Amino acid sequence: MKELLKRLSPDERDWSLAREIDPKRIPAHVAIIMDGNGRWARQRNFPRIMGHRAGIGSVKTVTETCAQLGLEALTLYAFSVENWKRPRHEVEGLWRLLRHYLRREVSSLIENDIQLVAIGRIESLPAFVQDELTDVMEKTSRNQGMRLNLAINYGGRTELVDAVNAMIDSARIDGTLDSLEVTEETISAYLYTSGLRDPDLLIRTSGEMRISNFLLWQIAYSEIYVTSTLWPDFGRTELLEALVDYQRRERRFGGVTRAVSPAAQEDQLLLEEIEVPLR
Ligand code: FPP
Repeated sequence: MKELLKRLSPDERDWSLAREIDPKRIPAHVAIIMDGNGRWARQRNFPRIMGHRAGIGSVKTVTETCAQLGLEALTLYAFSVENWKRPRHEVEGLWRLLRHYLRREVSSLIENDIQLVAIGRIESLPAFVQDELTDVMEKTSRNQGMRLNLAINYGGRTELVDAVNAMIDSARIDGTLDSLEVTEETISAYLYTSGLRDPDLLIRTSGEMRISNFLLWQIAYSEIYVTSTLWPDFGRTELLEALVDYQRRERRFGGVTRAVSPAAQEDQLLLEEIEVPLR
């Protein structure tokens, strides 16, 4: 948080937004469905790829702001397993943009102590994309600050399939398949996000009310924030607004508020008086 405030001046709107954020309750992990690049381009009569190009600017701003805020992890949904259905030239354009982003940003990722990790079925990507990703992952692997997960050729269901298969394979190798015990912890340990906390906050831009096969296991208790802002227009201000909104929520994880209110005491007395018929 201090890192962010250092970069702002008190006359900026982002300064007052940042001051509204409680540094002790900053989410550890934020996940984002970056949506609306195509509409952003269409509104300007540009080809769709220009929307994706503009989206790279938001990737940079949001990543750096999250690192300055002190987040442990940021997960960005860049390409889903379903996105192969798009026209070939758009898919190829996305790979070229990803290469451009990786080459341009590697030094600033290192400067900001960010570790980049690609999650998804990376082995099915074009070889030149895999090479660029491997290079940047290697160059940032010793960074200790925020982890940036880029979800590429990612699907929540394929992640679960991969996790179960990896679990079975490793038990087979260890000779423990017959006694394999599956728990929530073992499943989490085989996901691409193994070792990371689940996202506290899931943001989706462009107003669509869908999960789109993203982090299906990990978002069980995430707070969801949907904004009509299109991804290329989502910058530092919009991120800070999302965090202010998140901090106004009460997270109960299926429980109730802990304080015993007079109303709760009344509920207890009522329960004692009412005879509930049992079936
Ligand atoms: C969704 O918008 C966006 C994508 C499928 C790609 C996201 C890619 C980027 C932000 C740029 C490159 C990424 C990195 C990590 C460098 P859409 O095309 O579905 O928009 P629409 O719904 O308005 O058509």
